[in-house]
Amino acid sequence: MTEKKKNGSGGKTRRDFLKDAGLLVGGTAIGSTVLLAACAGETETVTNTVTRTQTVTTTATESKFVCPIDGTEFDTFAELQAHFEATHGTVAGVVTLNVNGDNHLLQVQPYWSLAFVLREKLGLPGTKIGCDRGECGTCTVVVDGKAVYACTMLVTDAVGKNILTVEGLSDGITLNSLQQSFYNRGASQCGYCTPGFLMAATALLSANPNPSRDDVRLALSGHLCSCGEIHNFIEAVLEA
Ligand code: FES
Ligand code: FES
Repeated sequence: MTEKKKNGSGGKTRRDFLKDAGLLVGGTAIGSTVLLAACAGETETVTNTVTRTQTVTTTATESKFVCPIDGTEFDTFAELQAHFEATHGTVAGVVTLNVNGDNHLLQVQPYWSLAFVLREKLGLPGTKIGCDRGECGTCTVVVDGKAVYACTMLVTDAVGKNILTVEGLSDGITLNSLQQSFYNRGASQCGYCTPGFLMAATALLSANPNPSRDDVRLALSGHLCSCGEIHNFIEAVLEA
């Protein structure tokens, strides 16, 4: 296979296909390190560098700001915030999130999910979104040591907690032992589900460094892989 070879769907190159799937950012994989490592030897040398946005200033672009509690609409975020504080007693505004050991100060809408904020506001697209409703496990991150579906967790519920995403598993250059095990096993096809499996396995191994096969099966049971690689993921975790 060469870089110019079409993937058989829509006449796109493999690079274009991966970009559209959110697996390539600026020529570099974020969150799919295993996949690209497997592909790198075929076509090119991939510089495995992760660029993180440390400080993000967000600007609301929605035309209306809707109260997540009673549905009242406002023209400005300030009006919504004032309404929220006066009516519901909770401040919807500036929060600090600790992600992969870094603190991020950002303004959020109270109805934003953690997955949305990680991907769209903090520039960490390694957390994938599949079903966006708590069914597939693709968006899994580790929050205070536990595997969590980031699509079903409000970002405001993540404040004050330690959030670990797939970008935090390694230094961006060297795979950690779990990622290396996935790579050695060739435990991915498209790779879209892989970050979720890695994070579920990370939570398991941090709580239980020597899990049984049943422990691994249980820990990964909330995850779907449409490429049918679950048996390889289980073996990779056991070999990590
Ligand atoms: S995207 Fe969160 S569980 Fe499917
Ligand atoms: S490797 Fe393709 S969905 Fe799991």
